[in-house]
Amino acid sequence: IRSASSLKEPYESSEDDESNNNIDWNNLGFGLMQTDYMYTMKCGEDEQFKQGQLTRYGNIELSPSAGVLNYGQGLFEGTKAYRREDGRLFLFRPQQNAIRMQIGAERMCMPSPSIEQFVDAVKQIALANKRWIPPSGKGSLYIRPLLMGSGSILGLAPASEYTFLVYASPVGNYYKGGTASLNLYVEDEYHRTMLGGAGGVKSITNYAPVLKAMCKAKDRGFSDVLYLDSVNKRNVEEASCSNVFILKGNVLSTPVTNGNILEGITRKSIMDIACDFGYRVEERCIPIEELIDADEVFCTGTAVGVAPVGTISYRGKRTEYKMSTELACLKLYSRLVEIQKGTIEDKRGWIV
Ligand code: COI
Repeated sequence: IRSASSLKEPYESSEDDESNNNIDWNNLGFGLMQTDYMYTMKCGEDEQFKQGQLTRYGNIELSPSAGVLNYGQGLFEGTKAYRREDGRLFLFRPQQNAIRMQIGAERMCMPSPSIEQFVDAVKQIALANKRWIPPSGKGSLYIRPLLMGSGSILGLAPASEYTFLVYASPVGNYYKGGTASLNLYVEDEYHRTMLGGAGGVKSITNYAPVLKAMCKAKDRGFSDVLYLDSVNKRNVEEASCSNVFILKGNVLSTPVTNGNILEGITRKSIMDIACDFGYRVEERCIPIEELIDADEVFCTGTAVGVAPVGTISYRGKRTEYKMSTELACLKLYSRLVEIQKGTIEDKRGWIV
């Protein structure tokens, strides 16, 4: 066990950098591969997170009456650590995840770690598990920060104690079939969220409710589900774990974040890059008819990256989009990857 403050900048892993020669880095999917360390930091009634610590990855102990188990008082984040060709390690915009967790914590009545505490924990987890960061171009180390009501509570109320926990796993492509295009099923019976709900933050309660529609669609051969708004059942919201964009001519549009849409960090980055490329970028309501009529449709997310949509199926009708290596979304994604690899200037200071 090492305390957070025992790791001074520049962060060093005390492990010898044993290699992971036995891992088939060419065939990483998006599944849990246990790594060496996790990070835990707690906060009691004073609402201040105290010094955290790295411990060996393993099970945690929770009261059966913990707020997170009984009332779903919890948030998660997702960010990635990458290895460059020259062996240097980097993170992509982890401060944005910290800010998003703070906003989500406020919505879920939880105290949250400061931006510095959050980023420090993510750095520590990346470095303590650095032998699990795949070689350049083979994937990344997916880092999963959690914030949960770990204190006991029986009557409905915020928990009295909170735990911030970070673990990590090497990952490759999110969808089976790698970078092939997605076949989305447009769902109009089940909804991901509703106005005034918690769809705009990364609450754990947003994810179990999509499983039914998602599993049904996957059983029928679809890659994922695209959800519509619950009021009009007409405006496009997002997929089970990614934001959605449409391109028509020179206009790139994505659903406006009205409290229902997760403020994706890849979403935000792609919007900035698209502006650099000269697209007109709009955040607005997108009726399903416009998506059907688009030149290109694609999904973005930390886990997903940027994934072109090949077909969508809506009320029994299937629409196919033209696929080619010239897709605008692939160009936008390449620019993002170039910034990450350091082959192009990181003018906005995204790389840590
Ligand atoms: C992420 O992109 O980090 C996600 O939240 C996806 C996750 C649900 C697998």
